[in-house]
Amino acid sequence: MMISTRLPPAILEADVIVFTTPVYWYSIPAQIKGVIDRIFSLVVGGKDIAGKECALITCCEEEDMTVMDGVRIPIERMAALNKWKMAGEVLIPGVLNVGDIDKTEGCKKAADLANSI
Ligand SMILES: Cc1cc2nc3c(=O)[nH]c(=O)nc-3n(C[C@H](O)[C@H](O)[C@H](O)COP(=O)(O)O)c2cc1C
Repeated sequence: MMISTRLPPAILEADVIVFTTPVYWYSIPAQIKGVIDRIFSLVVGGKDIAGKECALITCCEEEDMTVMDGVRIPIERMAALNKWKMAGEVLIPGVLNVGDIDKTEGCKKAADLANSI
């Protein structure tokens, strides 16, 4: 509930919005989706949220990059609808257990993305 009320003003103020989420069942986890859905209040409320930048950091267990389509495509389409420019995406497969991310380029790519914004 706290997030529900704090998120819309935070989005209004932000220059860049970075979505970070794992893949759950080929999709955006319900908890994260509930937060993202709050953005709709700004759209229907006619707020000017165009011109922001947007980025995505995600991971999944499987090695197939298309597994992350269920996260990547909704974020890209939401960005397009809101006239947000995609500043970058970090998509990391092969991550299941604690520490797996350290065996990938994920953290370096996320840092590179942050430095590029
Ligand atoms: C409920 C649940 C569903 C998942 N579904 C998928 C999936 O469909 N495909 C996949 O490759 N990995 C899947 N995973 C693996 C997660 O994407 C991966 O373990 C991620 O690192 C979990 O991040 P978390 O520890 O922040 O929850 C799933 C994990 C959980 C817990």
